[in-house]
Amino acid sequence: MAKPRVQFICQSCGATHTRWAGKCDACGEWNTLVEEGTAGGIGAGPNSLKSSRKGRAVALTSLAGDIEDAPRIASGIGELDRATGGGFVRGSALLVGGDPGIGKSTLLTQAAAALANQGHRIVYVSGEEAVAQIRLRAQRLGVAQSAVELAAETNVEDILATIADGKRPDLLILDSIQTLWTDLADSAPGTVTQVRAAAQAMIRYAKSTGCAVVLVGHVTKEGQIAGPRVVEHMVDAVLYFEGEGGHHYRILRTVKNRFGPTDEIGVFEMGDRGLREVANPSELFLGERSVKAPGAAVFAGMEGTRPVLVEIQALVAPSPLGTPRRAVVGWDSARLSMVLAVLEAHCGVRFSQHDVYLNVAGGYRISEPAADLAVAAALVSSLTGLALPADCVYFGEISLSGAVRAVAHAQQRLKEAEKLGFGRAVLPASAEELPAARTGGLFQPEALADLVACIAGSRTTGAGD
Ligand code: TYD
Ligand code: MG
Repeated sequence: MAKPRVQFICQSCGATHTRWAGKCDACGEWNTLVEEGTAGGIGAGPNSLKSSRKGRAVALTSLAGDIEDAPRIASGIGELDRATGGGFVRGSALLVGGDPGIGKSTLLTQAAAALANQGHRIVYVSGEEAVAQIRLRAQRLGVAQSAVELAAETNVEDILATIADGKRPDLLILDSIQTLWTDLADSAPGTVTQVRAAAQAMIRYAKSTGCAVVLVGHVTKEGQIAGPRVVEHMVDAVLYFEGEGGHHYRILRTVKNRFGPTDEIGVFEMGDRGLREVANPSELFLGERSVKAPGAAVFAGMEGTRPVLVEIQALVAPSPLGTPRRAVVGWDSARLSMVLAVLEAHCGVRFSQHDVYLNVAGGYRISEPAADLAVAAALVSSLTGLALPADCVYFGEISLSGAVRAVAHAQQRLKEAEKLGFGRAVLPASAEELPAARTGGLFQPEALADLVACIAGSRTTGAGD
């Protein structure tokens, strides 16, 4: 008999180690290694599969040939369909990850009800909540009457046996992947081995039957249970549901999609009666803007294919400390240091005696380098006490040499800005061809110093003139 082998598997990244260690070498997380027995079960090497089966030849084919569009079932919830690229794809597996309590179950309950109302067979299996709790949520959401089939179950084999009866479901929701366990793996539920084995079984079910499977995964900080990351590579699409504590809106972000675009976002607002779609996020993020205050600049950003306007707020105040404070919310702090350094080195603006606070309004998070120009404008505005023009947007990347570099989608950004009443814009000189009609109200500095000079010299007129 084979000696039972013991391995230590990182619950964060799934790397296997032969010895226990406080820190995982692969991902650098602490306290994430857990002992998992792998004798014979899933997770053991190929040697343990004592199969005498001979391989079967499969037909090889060519790259050219007929292609069918992925058959989709659209939920009718516009922001969700946008994030999935047009609806759930039949025969595919989708992972919806997010922090506990962010609203994953709420979103999927609403989607399930919407699809059931269209006549699809939807099965919702919860391993986290009792049937009564799910009913309560459905009541709160006002969808208790829809024909969603419900079960509270965690064993993969039992779930598969349950849905084998009757018509094949169009959509199967498993909430959450961390509670599932299969007889094939002998580790505890929630460990990497179990999570992977259970996900594999459900993905196989999706591929073989054509049912769309949604796996819910909790993002975990402590690594006590395996995170969604360990199944990301197995599924066809990955969506993350995000939100900032204290704010009501939630963003559904596509990070992987084999059937559609990535970088797409869906925006929702969490209310008393569930999630409400926010079709125009710019209006939400610009919500309570005070146009007269110095230190605020509106950034024309892009989220996937959609332009989003958001206010960047800076506060620059004289510092009583030897080492001034720099604090950032919603942006990269290394990027802020870079913009500050460029302002000091190339524009003669000194921040060394000042505390700098930067905030992206509404708790939104920006990852685009195109925000550099808006950040620089907000910083200079706060330092000088000169408010920026209220109807002006900013976008452009700043290089270490102080040059303003072009960014993609200039036209779309300008169009969105115009739609929301921003007549003026500061953008890179080297931006793509702009329509001739759109040359009024544009200021296209070659270097950051030009913008600084424009703000400082514009006590009455403002940048863009
Ligand atoms: P839930 O969907 O259970 O989160 P997850 O499945 O991601 O863990 O949502 C939990 C939170 O959402 C909870 O704090 C209550 C809140 N909520 C509302 O504010 N309004 C609602 O209509 C519902 C159903 C939940
Ligand atoms: Mg939940």
